[in-house]
Amino acid sequence: MSELQIGGISCRQLAEEYGTPLYIYDEARIINQAQSALDNFKSDMFETEVAFASKAFSSIYLFKLLSRMGLGLDVVSGGELYGAMQAGVDMSKVYFHGNNKGDEEMTMALEAGVGYFVIDNVMECRRLVFAAEDAGIKVRALLRVNPGISAHTHEYIMTSAPDSKFGIYVKDRIHIKEVIDIIAGSSMVELAGFHSHIGSQIVEAESFERALDTMTDFLLEMKELYGIDDMELSIGGGFGIKYVDEDEVESLGDMCYRMVRCAEDCIVRKGVNVTKLITEPGRSMVGEAGYSLYTIGDMKVSGDKHYIFVNGGMSDNIRPALYEAEYGAALVEKQDLPKTMNYCVAGKNCESGDVLIKSVKLPEAMPGDLLVLFSTGAYGYSMASNYNRLGRPAVVFVKDGKSRLVIRRESYRDQYRLEMGGDDD
Ligand code: LLP
Repeated sequence: MSELQIGGISCRQLAEEYGTPLYIYDEARIINQAQSALDNFKSDMFETEVAFASKAFSSIYLFKLLSRMGLGLDVVSGGELYGAMQAGVDMSKVYFHGNNKGDEEMTMALEAGVGYFVIDNVMECRRLVFAAEDAGIKVRALLRVNPGISAHTHEYIMTSAPDSKFGIYVKDRIHIKEVIDIIAGSSMVELAGFHSHIGSQIVEAESFERALDTMTDFLLEMKELYGIDDMELSIGGGFGIKYVDEDEVESLGDMCYRMVRCAEDCIVRKGVNVTKLITEPGRSMVGEAGYSLYTIGDMKVSGDKHYIFVNGGMSDNIRPALYEAEYGAALVEKQDLPKTMNYCVAGKNCESGDVLIKSVKLPEAMPGDLLVLFSTGAYGYSMASNYNRLGRPAVVFVKDGKSRLVIRRESYRDQYRLEMGGDDD
C-alpha cells in the first residue's frame, strides 16, 4: 500500500524521527515557487523585486534560503527584523512595514540599514523623519496607500476598505499631501514611491488588476499635482493558494506574469514613470509546501459526529477557528483505502472552537494513525500559540530524501523560560 511521502521521505519515518505534531516543508516546492515568482515578475520597462512577506512563516533557515535566491524580505516588527538580521539577509532588500512601528523598532531598522520604510500614516511619517534625522541615517520610504478595492476574501484578512486600519485612503488628499510635505522638508527621508496591498488569499486576478489601475491613476495624480515622477510601486502580496480540492487558483508564476503585464499596460497608457515594481507574496510562497502531521489519539461519537482527536489543534493552527479556513486531510498510511467515513477532526485545546476540519471523508481511522493536513505552510507556525501550554511543534524541511530540523520542538522548560518564579524571600 502506498504511503504518503514528502520530499522523498515517508511521513511515518519523519514522525518516528521528530515526533508529532510536526510541521513538514517540502523545500523543493518552496524553491520552485520562489523561482517562478522571480522568473515571471520581470519587465524590460522597469526594475522588479520579489520580497517574501515573512509573517507567513518567519524562520532563519527560510530567510537564508530565499535571500540566497535573490528575494527581498518584508518585515513588520523588530522581531521579524531580528530574524532577518540573524539570517544575514541583504538589508537593502528589506521592507519595514507595520502600522505602529515603535521608536525603538525604527531606530533598530535605521541602524540595521533596511532598504525601505513603508509609511502607514502621518504620525508615523513625522516620527520617521525625526528618528532618521536624529540618527543621521538616510532612508527610502514608500507610502502605503489604500486603493479601496474590495476583494472576495474573509473580512479579517481584507485590508482595502475605505475605513481600513492600513495605509491612507487613496482619496484622502489632505493626509497624503501632509506626508509628501513632511518628507519634502527632510534631508534624511526620501519618498521613493507608493505601496498598496488589498488583502490576502485573493484568488481572482481582476482584483489585483483593479488595484493596479487605481494605483497608476494615483501616480498620475501625484505627477500632475506635485510633480512627483520616477516612482517605485509595490503591489503588496495576497495571491491565493489551494487549500481544498474545490479551490481554483492561478499559479504564483502566472499571477506574477499577469501583474507585470498589467502594470506595463497601465504605465504606458497613462504616461507615468515607474522605475521599480515590487511584490510581497507570503502565503503563496510557502503555503502549499507545508504539511501538519498529527497522531490520532482518542476517537468518539458525540451526537451524530464522529470525532478524531489529534495531538495538536488550534494552538498550532488557529486559522480554522479564526477565519473558518478549510483544509484537506489524509491518513498517511491508508491512502489507498476507500473513504467510507465522515470525520470531524478536533484538537486537544480546551475550546469548543478547536476544530481543524468540520467534516472530511477518510478511510476508517484508528488511534495511532498518522493524519496529515495539507497546505498549512503559511500562517500556521507563525500564528501558533502556547494555549493550554502546548509546546509549538518542531519544523522540518525535507528535500531529496533528506530531512533537516529547522526549528526544534518547544519543551515544557522552553515554555516556562520567562517565568520569574515568584518565591517570597
Ligand atoms: N504585504 C502586506 C503589506 C501584507 O499586509 C501582507 C499580509 C502580505 C504582503 C502578504 O500577504 P500574503 O501573500 O501572505 O497573502 N493571518 C492571515 C493572513 C494575514 C495577512 C496579513 N498581511 C491568514 O492566516 O490568512
